[in-house]
Amino acid sequence: MDAGAPVPWWRIAVVYHVYVRSFQDTDGDGVGDLPGVLQRLDYLADLGVEAVWLSPFYPSPQRDFGYDVAEYRDVDPVFGTLADFDRLISQAHARGLRVILDLVANHTSSDHPWFVESRSHRMSAKREWYVWRDPHPDGGPPNNWLSFFGGPAWTLDPHTGQYYLHHYLPEQPDLNYRNPEVLEAMLEVMRFWLERGVDGFRVDSASHLVEDAHFRDEPPNPAWRPGMRERDRLLHVHTEHQPETHEVLRHFRTLLDRYSEPGRERILIGEVYAPNPILVSYYGTSESPECHFPFNFALVDLPAERWTAEDLKALVEAYESSLPDWGWPSWVLGNHDRPRVASRLGEERTRLAHFLLLTLRGTPTLYYGDELAVRDVEILPDQVRDLPGLREYGGRWSRDAARAPMPWDDSPGAGFTTGTPWLPLPPDFRVRNVVAQRQDPGSMLHLVRHLLHLRRQTPALSVGAYRSLPTPPGVYAYERFTDRERVQAVLNFSDRTRSVEAAGEILLSTHLDRFGRGRTPVELRPYEGILLRPSA
Ligand code: GLC
Repeated sequence: MDAGAPVPWWRIAVVYHVYVRSFQDTDGDGVGDLPGVLQRLDYLADLGVEAVWLSPFYPSPQRDFGYDVAEYRDVDPVFGTLADFDRLISQAHARGLRVILDLVANHTSSDHPWFVESRSHRMSAKREWYVWRDPHPDGGPPNNWLSFFGGPAWTLDPHTGQYYLHHYLPEQPDLNYRNPEVLEAMLEVMRFWLERGVDGFRVDSASHLVEDAHFRDEPPNPAWRPGMRERDRLLHVHTEHQPETHEVLRHFRTLLDRYSEPGRERILIGEVYAPNPILVSYYGTSESPECHFPFNFALVDLPAERWTAEDLKALVEAYESSLPDWGWPSWVLGNHDRPRVASRLGEERTRLAHFLLLTLRGTPTLYYGDELAVRDVEILPDQVRDLPGLREYGGRWSRDAARAPMPWDDSPGAGFTTGTPWLPLPPDFRVRNVVAQRQDPGSMLHLVRHLLHLRRQTPALSVGAYRSLPTPPGVYAYERFTDRERVQAVLNFSDRTRSVEAAGEILLSTHLDRFGRGRTPVELRPYEGILLRPSA
């Protein structure tokens, strides 16, 4: 980037991930909708985020709650109308909020007219839009590839006698990007939404867009142990991270760049779960870029017992040092597919986790409700709505747990709905809700809001460089700095008081009970993080 050129918005922004079904219902059917998001834009603007990522709201049979799209260029009636979407985007923009859509590019719903046509006949004009193969000579699936949601990644279509590929549910057939018509169709989908003003896309399942041309079997994973996912019995060397997948992402990026202008960049975020060296390949190269950033799920994947100062420092620095020097980092604490951060870490460490998320270098993504430390809800096996959870785990575990309705207040529907919520409300919603936390000056909500506002006012935090600082055991500290400004984050991940040689003005403590000039050395209470403006 040119020195002196304005920093692009997406490097400064904090992204807020709205799972539309669970955010705000306005028509009493128990399911959140786009008018509901519109109604809560003031909340988001006041919280201090700058971008909203909306989970899929396109027409869909909802087998995977919208990640099975039956029509890419419309709104499912359960979520509203295109006119609602247009209102939402213009109102968001009026508040300085960018809108990012979920681009479910890897697969469609089996109800999508493309697939209906594709499966109708071996000679159909859309046959090659999906991945069809003859059975193995033994009559079984063409090869050993496995689906994320249990069982083979292939389903036989008895009518035409061939198998089709699906990395997820059989109701989510995989698109064939080796066919240029498919790429063109997806670019057309992107144009449709870009013309309506969207600011970017989060590409769902971005690492799976194209598979091995020779359909080779995947080798066994020597590290697989009972208890691990069935799918991970194999090493996914032929279904993930293929060079042709990168090519597709480059086409997506080229289109976005065409729609971008200074101050109005349209961005591409990739959903990629991978170790650092592979993850960073999704930036592409400086001449031929791909994602503005792939999500970095390292903090989502870090087991609770490894949330120690030493492990975190190693994790941050391994990631930082694997980035290309022009590659901008990303940090995520939770999403709609994983247990919530407050359930993984407990309340005290969730405060530190938010402090980390919002003070590290890179664009943070916040999952709705985490700003209240909402926990996973218990879903009884017969209440499970998540079909993959039912099929893969027989309902013993499901992603529903992390998708409970947002608790806005202590009214019977938690301010989320006047009807029956589609999933149980968080059981503590009468005390843990937005209204209650607004009234409590020490709440998680105040902490997150405070951090977001500090981040906005402090260029060192939003765009500055990172370097770690020496600390006693159990403490992780780093400095964020620009030419003009320095701030220091000091995080005590231990359950003991620790003192740190640091002097300056305390801008914030995660306990929210001390500000201003501190004594030297600074005493950190157990699980306390502080942000300091060091004395000159
Ligand atoms: C992504 C989504 C997940 C969905 C899957 C299939 O991983 O985050 O919710 O089930 O893709 O689209």
